[in-house]
Amino acid sequence: MSSMAFLSHPYFFAALTLLVVQFLFRKLSKRDGKRYHPVAGTVFNQMINFHRLHHYMTHLAAKHRTYRLLNLFRYEVYTAEPSNVEYILKTNFENYGKGLYNYQNLKDLLGDGIFTVDGEKWREQRKISSHEFSTKMLRDFSVSVFRKNAAKLADIVSESATSNSSLEIQDLFMRSTLDSIFQVAFGTELDSMCGSSQEGKIFADAFDASSALTLYRYVDVFWKIKKFLNIRSEAKLRKTTKVLDEFVLNLIKNRIQQMQISRGGSDSKREDILSRFLQVKGYDSTYLRDIILNFVIAGKDTTAATLSWFMYMLCKYPAVQEKAAEEVKEATNTKSISSYTEFASSVTDEALEKMNYLHAAITETLRLYPAVPVDAKICFSDDTLPDGYSVNKGDMVSYQPYAMGRMKFIWGDDAEDFRPERWLDENGIFKQESPFKFTAFQAGPRICLGKEFAYRQMKIFSAVLLGCFRFRLNDEKRNVTYKTMINLHIDGGLEIKALHR
Ligand code: HEM
Repeated sequence: MSSMAFLSHPYFFAALTLLVVQFLFRKLSKRDGKRYHPVAGTVFNQMINFHRLHHYMTHLAAKHRTYRLLNLFRYEVYTAEPSNVEYILKTNFENYGKGLYNYQNLKDLLGDGIFTVDGEKWREQRKISSHEFSTKMLRDFSVSVFRKNAAKLADIVSESATSNSSLEIQDLFMRSTLDSIFQVAFGTELDSMCGSSQEGKIFADAFDASSALTLYRYVDVFWKIKKFLNIRSEAKLRKTTKVLDEFVLNLIKNRIQQMQISRGGSDSKREDILSRFLQVKGYDSTYLRDIILNFVIAGKDTTAATLSWFMYMLCKYPAVQEKAAEEVKEATNTKSISSYTEFASSVTDEALEKMNYLHAAITETLRLYPAVPVDAKICFSDDTLPDGYSVNKGDMVSYQPYAMGRMKFIWGDDAEDFRPERWLDENGIFKQESPFKFTAFQAGPRICLGKEFAYRQMKIFSAVLLGCFRFRLNDEKRNVTYKTMINLHIDGGLEIKALHR
């Protein structure tokens, strides 16, 4: 392409118009004495770079730490500066939330669930959800589900190892984490892993499509017009969210019926999240749909994507793989493995506690491949960030876990290297890092509610797989990169080969 070819790009004129409008608008509304972060581009640059969005934004973060991109109605501020992150997520938490902007973008997929709301609506859901999440009942129930699914996972991997065939592991992780969160959320077995449920596949496909189409709204300034006209991406989104809604509402209806029939019988002792909420909050199906669907969404893709990147790291760094496998063997006191179910049951809470290296290697994966790569908030009133630059009411302010994980000024010169040891102290014990530097789980009052839940599942799955198999990439030469979506998936999945240990 010639160096002037961009002049004929359809977005070029739109971007130019946008810049002029923004400039005039800002000139008119400029207030004395305020400094703003440098302008690094427009949202059209994001659209053009959509397939490599996080590379583009990492490049800008390394250059500016905090910068602005122009959008038609607001500035978009992107920060990789930990002191700014602490300020927006904790110190002045009340001034930065989802706002109407995120709410409108996310509502069709996530309703009024915990991910989309602020203020009292959020506080109420947070309170009751964090209570439910901290109960021993949910903890024990979820661990038993993770162990069962880890053994199933091992069965499937074992077949491919025996037949020496390759395996698309991301898809398998997506199905296994869907099965786990589905059973913990609804108390029902979906069994998408063994493919016995066509419904499970329809649900998962509809969710993936809805997630990608919802993220696209963040860079498509015309989405509301498309929604009004019910065309293109918005027509697709309407169709896929309808599938999700019907699926979840149907499950809730059936559970309400079961509970009404059972009245104080065995159904009142059910341990799943839906049954717990039904007992605490009553029978409002839409409210329950929003709450529970938010959990399913939170629990499925984030965990599966992290496990997939972790597997990629294990294959790229065989020495890390061996070290983690050795630790699993020691912590579980394993001499030989006679059945996967039995081995999964040896991954007890005590054994998990001992797996510091595994914990560090998973955390190192999340540093470089955070499941939520960019997280946007809206500024509710004019403010000044700790770096001295101002933000205005209505501006979008995002922190960037993906870019932050690669910043030398945060992690040192080896920031881009995969090095689990950086998380261990001199005794090999895992040491926490500031959540304002390591932002994969967010931080402050809205820190991820499922962090412990996620680590438990990831460690149980990894321990069982590492204890039983050795892994390598099916194609060492393939360029492995992400697909731009709300969550950081591996584009095209990850083909691996497993060998019995
Ligand atoms: C590796 C796995 C995971 C990662 C990296 C992760 C990361 C995050 C991040 C970045 C947020 C903030 C999102 C926002 O701004 O709205 C978040 C929120 C949340 N996460 Fe996770 N998550 C993971 C797994 C889970 C799991 C397994 C669950 C539940 C089963 C869960 C439940 C939640 C909930 C309920 C919130 C909303 C908290 C609130 O707004 O108060 N997460 N998580």
